[in-house]
Amino acid sequence: MKPRAYITRRLPQAAIDIVSAACETTLWDDEANPVPRETLLRAVADVDGILTLLTDRVDTELLAAAPRLKVVANMAVGYDNVDLPALTARGVLLTNTPDVLTETTADLVWALILAASRRVVEGHRLIAAGGWTTWSPMFMVGQDVHGATLGIVGAGRIGSAVARRAVGFGMPILYHNRRPSPSLEAQIGAIPGAAIRYAPALDDLLSAADVVVVLVPLTPETRGMFGAREFALMKPTSVFVNASRGPVVCEAELIEALKRGRPWAAGLDVFEHEPIGADHPLLALPNVVLTPHIGSATVATRTRMAVVAATNLVAALTGQPVPNPVNRVEVKGEGRDGGT
Ligand code: DGY
Repeated sequence: MKPRAYITRRLPQAAIDIVSAACETTLWDDEANPVPRETLLRAVADVDGILTLLTDRVDTELLAAAPRLKVVANMAVGYDNVDLPALTARGVLLTNTPDVLTETTADLVWALILAASRRVVEGHRLIAAGGWTTWSPMFMVGQDVHGATLGIVGAGRIGSAVARRAVGFGMPILYHNRRPSPSLEAQIGAIPGAAIRYAPALDDLLSAADVVVVLVPLTPETRGMFGAREFALMKPTSVFVNASRGPVVCEAELIEALKRGRPWAAGLDVFEHEPIGADHPLLALPNVVLTPHIGSATVATRTRMAVVAATNLVAALTGQPVPNPVNRVEVKGEGRDGGT
């Protein structure tokens, strides 16, 4: 008997084909809307594996509803939608999709850095509103990106890709992680003209950087990491970019800080409560550029992520080596009759 799998969204066909070839597969056949919670809880009652998105909450309630569950394959590099300790305690494997989205997400970080620094969206809006009347010396002036100091908070894979691009802009790089990363320093240091330095104290990075990019995962330690105190440390000319997870930033305090002009501008791809609506207070500010959590959203990358998640799911359910495990769990009894 084939194992049973549930896919919580209509994915690119290549990914569905991978799962269907190995598993009896049920699909929430809607691309745009998440599966309703009640439907999901019913659907997982008899499955061995689930392919989830970051819009699906995988918690103790879901685990209780899925007594046969062996693997959750999350189609994202982040997995703050998953109660990892609960999964591990139940012996359920979690997998994610690192690497395939690194370069694409770094591109979006750069779109936000450039757009916020050079007032790209504000300029577009001004023209659309008929507000462009003449050229004047200090009209729509922004902040230089080239030569500015880039501060990366959470320099993992995506941070490294952001840093590599910064060398082309002649930007000295500061990074803050829990520990220094000799491999990052070697990688960036090998690029002609690069300058990279570890900032052991976040405060030092915040006061020295012209552009601050946040790429930390959301954990109990990073929740609310950026608030009024941190913004007050930043330069009045600084640009703040968050492409990690919204709750890393205290949004109400960021809004007040932006109103006071420190940071000078922000580029945000993630928000405390997603999705945000047209009435969100951030939209009332001229010095912000917002995108709807699209860091990895290119056709090629989202397709690759779906395929990687499908491959992880099938590997776990068929006893093959799993490419991207997050926790250490032995998946026992592959197949429907295997039972754990
Ligand atoms: C992730 O993979 O964690 C992203 O936020 C989704 O692109």
